[in-house]
Amino acid sequence: MFELEGRTALVTGAGQGVGAGIATLLARQGAVVAVNDIVAERAEKAAAAIRAAGGAAHALPFDVTDTAAVAAAVRTFERSVAPVDILVNNAGNGGAEGFRPTRFRDADPADWQRFADINLFGVMNATRAVLDGMCARRFGRIVTIASGAGTQGMNIGVSLYGAAKGGAIAFTRHLAIEHARDGITANSLAVGLIDPAASGRQASATVNLAKAIPVGRLGTPEDIGAACVFLASREAEWITGQTWQINGGSPTT
Ligand SMILES: NC(=O)c1ccc[n+]([C@@H]2O[C@H](COP(=O)([O-])OP(=O)(O)OC[C@H]3O[C@@H](n4cnc5c(N)ncnc54)[C@H](O)[C@@H]3O)[C@@H](O)[C@H]2O)c1
Repeated sequence: MFELEGRTALVTGAGQGVGAGIATLLARQGAVVAVNDIVAERAEKAAAAIRAAGGAAHALPFDVTDTAAVAAAVRTFERSVAPVDILVNNAGNGGAEGFRPTRFRDADPADWQRFADINLFGVMNATRAVLDGMCARRFGRIVTIASGAGTQGMNIGVSLYGAAKGGAIAFTRHLAIEHARDGITANSLAVGLIDPAASGRQASATVNLAKAIPVGRLGTPEDIGAACVFLASREAEWITGQTWQINGGSPTT
């Protein structure tokens, strides 16, 4: 079960962290994986690691916020390698990179846009680039990596990020219904706190937060990758329009 042999996946922002874990697990199940990242060297390194482990992977660098660049890169990949059956919209700025928790009242309006650009419009750009092909072939799996911040209110300075992630969740839910008769499923994962070490960042600040997670540990990219493998599989065809909380049992709405 859950074999992905013969499938091709695109994982955005997969040069490190959660995305790299998702790409690795999809490849382990037999999928050919396009490893996207805005940082080309990261995409190449992650793709090389998958190949070294016996999987099939291609680096596919582009910026998910650039509509034309996404469309062009996907078109070239689909012509030269294979059509994309599975899209994991993982690129986002929830990790520490370029992210300083700020309450809405203290946030500069000039800073609002970039959260929507990557976490919402990035999802739309990548989805648009693969959607026609999925419809034509009557098969598609779309998984959007969102966050608990997109489903519940929090007092940790993530309102702009949460608004964009909430938008991505709503978008994915509508997409699921619009294409429910096309063989395409679309679901979101509202992810809890992942071990920052997975993205090469200091883990010390999160030690106490980990204790508050009911299962007693931070999440790993593999926790998220396993859910993606399942949702990408043929067997998951009756699951669409859902938002799964993957957070070690932390409070959810
Ligand atoms: N880390 C967490 O605790 C956590 C919690 C909830 C949700 N998430 C979500 O999970 C996803 C992955 O998070 P992470 O912690 O692995 O992030 P990360 O910062 O470690 O990795 C993200 C990758 O995306 C790439 N990227 C950034 N902007 C891009 C763009 N415009 N186009 C293409 N690639 C781009 C980066 O270069 C980086 O390699 C994000 O959507 C994030 O919001 C993370």
